[in-house]
Amino acid sequence: KKKKKKPIRVYMHGCFDMMHYGHCNALRQARALGDQLVVGVVSDDEIIANKGPPVTPVHERMIMVNAVKWVDEVISDAPYAITEDFMKKLFDEYNIDYIIHGDDPCVLPDGTDAYALAKKAGRYKQIKRTEGVSSTDIVGRMLLCTRERSISDSHNQSSLQRQFSHGHSQKFEDGGSGSGTRVSHFLPTSRRIVQFSNGKGPGQDARIIYIDGAFDLFHAGHVEILKLARALGDFLLVGIHNDQIVSSKRGAHRPIMNLHERSLSVLACQYVDEVIIGAPWEVSKDMGKRGYTGDERRSLSPPPFLLFFFSMMILNGYALFLMCEWNPNIVYSPSGLCFPEGSRPQT
Ligand code: CTP
Repeated sequence: KKKKKKPIRVYMHGCFDMMHYGHCNALRQARALGDQLVVGVVSDDEIIANKGPPVTPVHERMIMVNAVKWVDEVISDAPYAITEDFMKKLFDEYNIDYIIHGDDPCVLPDGTDAYALAKKAGRYKQIKRTEGVSSTDIVGRMLLCTRERSISDSHNQSSLQRQFSHGHSQKFEDGGSGSGTRVSHFLPTSRRIVQFSNGKGPGQDARIIYIDGAFDLFHAGHVEILKLARALGDFLLVGIHNDQIVSSKRGAHRPIMNLHERSLSVLACQYVDEVIIGAPWEVSKDMGKRGYTGDERRSLSPPPFLLFFFSMMILNGYALFLMCEWNPNIVYSPSGLCFPEGSRPQT
């Protein structure tokens, strides 16, 4: 009898602060270098000691990493640097074959390479860092957006008059200093979208669940609602509103992540089967004809989700800012999806 080949286990660790599609793309590439991906999430204390306080606390960073579809196991309290002891633990206890990191330098406060030991042991592999996104960049966009909103309020300007299309120059009308832009440097390609997709449609009698929203700054609250929605059926279809719709509903300062960035974050989530990139605000019959149909509908009552969001708000000061993102409209039916004409609930 042929002996079963031992799976190759790869390890990647990181802070994964304000988890974005760059992190997801790193995890996707890491997973492709082996059969099983183990991810270490660096503790708050270790991040504070090495690069300053994280925006998202460790329990939220754990939720985000766990939700990524390419991740098999998660270790909490990982150290910032791969120490001799930790490397031994990875090899002996976790059966890790390779330690992986992006091709950007990862230096410790004393100037040494955080992966030097793994490289010396010949157990290091590298993936390509994703251009155009970082946690620092996202924090920058958020700060500029707050400023933009206060300028907009003081000018009493119609939010629709202001620019909302990311990818175009978004210089502030603040007397021409032009000190900041809120431009996304992300160039969406069909290849990237394919890499993130599951590539599978719903089965014959699948119960299809539809949920839509902005899903801006994809966070633990989004993961929770997608998990709950997926549990209601067999196939979760997520409609993501385009930038214009989000701007017209939430103000010109939103969204912070553009449509394609938001779509990739949602697609990387293990509970999601398919996304509509640029879903209409109103769920129409016509939309159903184009792919997903059904005959019965039931709305999911919001109280459990609201409770979750309120507790998140109390726990995190910044959560209030993020939470206004969420806009639930779940419709499902036993035989498929129903799009009742003009039935969008007012939120
Ligand atoms: N990573 C990546 N592309 C990015 C950002 C991060 O490939 N745009 C990779 C890193 O190389 C690392 C992993 O994601 O292997 C975890 O990154 P993290 O520890 O969070 O560190 P940063 O590189 O500081 O990420 P960011 O600047 O976004 O905080």
